[in-house]
Amino acid sequence: MSLMNWKPEYSVGVAKFDTQHKHLIDLLNTLHDAMMKGQGQAALGSTLSELINYTKTHFEDEEKAFATAGYPESFQHRQEHQALVKQVADIKKRFDANEITLSLTTTSFLQDWLQNHILGTDKKYGPFLNQHGVR
Ligand code: FE2
Ligand code: FE2
Repeated sequence: MSLMNWKPEYSVGVAKFDTQHKHLIDLLNTLHDAMMKGQGQAALGSTLSELINYTKTHFEDEEKAFATAGYPESFQHRQEHQALVKQVADIKKRFDANEITLSLTTTSFLQDWLQNHILGTDKKYGPFLNQHGVR
């Protein structure tokens, strides 16, 4: 069973970012499934890297849209992005050094973060970006 499913309530009102959020959820589910199936470190490591890289790309795309539209809450929003990037980089570093294994704690943390961020922080930019021509 999937860890997380995209729901219409996750829509931020910008098609491109809904698509990216769906892909992030897919990657998180892939990581979760790989972990539950007991896949090896190499497979888990590459899936984790893919999730981290796509997360960074997604954050950059949102931040570019904020800059173009002059979104007033971009500073706080970026800080949330940066805090997560730091946390996942730390997880990856410790995983690579065999200090931690991936567990439900990790994937649940990522699920909670993503859900709270989309519903709380991302959803706020929808109306503003729409007013500035981003749909
Ligand atoms: Fe965001
Ligand atoms: Fe987002």
